[in-house]
Amino acid sequence: MIRAAILGATGYTARELLHLLLRHPEVEITALTTRQETRPSVAEIHPSLRGRLDLVLENLTPTEVASRADCVFGCLPHAASAAAVSELLAAGCRVVDFSADYRLNDPKIYAQWYKVEHPDPARMPKTPYGLPELFRESIRGANLVANPGCYPTAAILALAPLLEAGVVSPRGIVIDSKSGVSGAGRTPKPAFHFPECNENLAAYAVGQHRHTPEIDQVLGTYADVETNVVFTPHLIPMDRGILTTAYSDPVEEVDADAVLGVLRKKYQDEPFVRVIDELPNTKNVSGTNFCEVTARVVQGKVVTISVIDNLIKGASGAAVQNFNLMYDLPETTALL
Ligand SMILES: NC(=O)c1ccc[n+]([C@@H]2O[C@H](COP(=O)([O-])OP(=O)(O)OC[C@H]3O[C@@H](n4cnc5c(N)ncnc54)[C@H](OP(=O)(O)O)[C@@H]3O)[C@@H](O)[C@H]2O)c1
Repeated sequence: MIRAAILGATGYTARELLHLLLRHPEVEITALTTRQETRPSVAEIHPSLRGRLDLVLENLTPTEVASRADCVFGCLPHAASAAAVSELLAAGCRVVDFSADYRLNDPKIYAQWYKVEHPDPARMPKTPYGLPELFRESIRGANLVANPGCYPTAAILALAPLLEAGVVSPRGIVIDSKSGVSGAGRTPKPAFHFPECNENLAAYAVGQHRHTPEIDQVLGTYADVETNVVFTPHLIPMDRGILTTAYSDPVEEVDADAVLGVLRKKYQDEPFVRVIDELPNTKNVSGTNFCEVTARVVQGKVVTISVIDNLIKGASGAAVQNFNLMYDLPETTALL
């Protein structure tokens, strides 16, 4: 059995991860962390797990975690995560990091968008980006994997194959995304109180969202030039789910069947990407590790629409998919 620990185990992504790991045949959950000193039980923090796991959450140092675990899932915010990751790796653990700390290759771009200096810059460009559909071979056997952001997952899965095939131009890509409120995590913030976000819809961080450089980094790799996307996220009064509509210009005249053909060819053997004719909706992928994507051509523009569950394919499901690859286990274990 592989002994697994979760850092930041009180959060939403950790709760989803616990549900998935409890049905993983190769995993024993051995340590859960919180900054709270009261050693709450799993059931106190996540009542949906009552009776499933007899463990308490503890304020453990990375060294203490490393003495109990082979693999650590870091469900901490950025900056807090990097501080723990380098210690865990030095102690011999493997790590799946949910935060943004190891997603970007360039420490200067990280400092510009996250407003902190990275404590472990040398490791950034060496860390595989944990989107198995595009980077499977670099994830296999890795000691550290950077789990992608939720918005980037939905946007990149729709656009990367079209850039790779030279069907759409890397210039002028517009990405419009809507996310359920769990995307902001469980840590309370005024903008996410029920009366603030219920019956409400708003754009936020227009032109400034931290997932922008992450999307550009990956799409730029597929386009072979910088993409400079315009990314506008919206908060929508749902618990979970992301729907992303992306608009791009075809390099040559193209119809929807041809665009769908490119997506189908790319994902024909992928267990978790479904290219569909119908317009996707978030409910059909809720609670699953699937991404559904379709395409249309409207007034000469290529329009792709993709959906994921932000907490599963956008976080904990992707983490388990990466974990399976890191340990050479069947990639769909605990996910189908
Ligand atoms: N929510 C999503 O849809 C989603 C999707 C993809 C990636 N992510 C990323 O995954 C990570 C976890 O997200 P989440 O939504 O689960 O967040 P969350 O619900 O807010 O949970 C994060 C946990 O980390 C602990 N924590 C907070 N600040 C800390 C600090 N400065 N030092 C140490 N521990 C701290 C907290 O636990 P205690 O207060 O108990 O210590 C908190 O419960 C984040 O990096 C996030 O960006 C989230």
